[in-house]
Amino acid sequence: MLLDRIVEEIHSGGPIGFDRFMEIALYDPGGGYFATGTLRSDRAGDFLTSPEVSPMFGETIARFVAAERGRVGVPFSVVEMGGGSGSLLRALLDALDPRAPAFAVERSKAAQASISATVPEAEIIDELSDVRGVIVANEVLDNMPAALVVRRGSEWWERRVAGTESGLVLVETEPRPDVVVWADRFAGPIPEGGQVEVQLQAGTWVRCHVELLQAGAMLLIDYGDSAENLENRRSEGTVRTYRKHHLGPDPLAEPGATDITMDVNFSAVVAAAEDAGAGVEFLRQDDFLNEWGLGERLAALRHDVVVAARDGRTMDQLKLKNRVIEAETLLHPRGLGDFRVVVCRK
Ligand SMILES: C[S@@+](CC[C@H](N)C(=O)[O-])C[C@H]1O[C@@H](n2cnc3c(N)ncnc32)[C@H](O)[C@@H]1O
Repeated sequence: MLLDRIVEEIHSGGPIGFDRFMEIALYDPGGGYFATGTLRSDRAGDFLTSPEVSPMFGETIARFVAAERGRVGVPFSVVEMGGGSGSLLRALLDALDPRAPAFAVERSKAAQASISATVPEAEIIDELSDVRGVIVANEVLDNMPAALVVRRGSEWWERRVAGTESGLVLVETEPRPDVVVWADRFAGPIPEGGQVEVQLQAGTWVRCHVELLQAGAMLLIDYGDSAENLENRRSEGTVRTYRKHHLGPDPLAEPGATDITMDVNFSAVVAAAEDAGAGVEFLRQDDFLNEWGLGERLAALRHDVVVAARDGRTMDQLKLKNRVIEAETLLHPRGLGDFRVVVCRK
């Protein structure tokens, strides 16, 4: 069992960083949440993402991709990182004229199988090498393993995972030097006793992928905010789990059986992209989608609903109403519209 192996690792080497715990709980080939089991990001799974809400998410991103192709020319590819079911890549490629060669990088076997079935023309690769085109990652950064620190006076203490008779617990230990450097730079204003997720791996991942991008853009979409705006979520930190579309158990309670996620610190993401040489735009999902035409699409759909009602086309009216709801959901200012988008251009 995954829990037994985590306890064994703790017994042999002492408490483990929360990032190590997350790596095992989410990605261990012998029981990690994403590595095993069924597809997690669909209606039957534990959480629902923008591409699963509506193909209009991918259609809108396709307009951005087409503009990038106009800017940097060919050769030009589309790459999706952590593509889940393949819904985003499918909708994006269907709306892109002419199509572009497509690639997908996914850590989850169930997601790889779903992408192969949904987007058979996309090549699934283990890791990315140099690319010209657009790289998209929707809700991937929030699942990247992070360390935890807590503010005690003017110091940081690192919360590591230890084992007790009653299960796994967090203990406060001397922090690792790179964890302190990150926390000092990106934690933002933190109350006494406040917890911060130290998203070192996400930063390294962003830097590395911006470096691989020869020309074009990387689009990073997720929940979270700038360090300053995360302040009011800080007293207990933002680590959480989801199960069956609701908040799930404590992240330590059932490793391998739940998603573990957190708000992305976009100040650190933006800095990593800039350090690697990208020009960066940071905006809200509703603003990004409206900039690329979703607001106009919604207005046209609302008009079509009225026309269908006037003409007595009841089935059309119902279908169009569903599409209106989908677009409204993607743009909802306190829901998906409140997600953040980072556009990294080179
Ligand atoms: C929350 S799901 C989102 C799936 C999809 N992007 C969507 O929006 O529906 C996160 C996905 O990212 C994948 N993932 C996490 N880290 C990754 C990495 N470093 N490279 C590739 N895939 C990764 C996971 O396996 C999982 O399928």
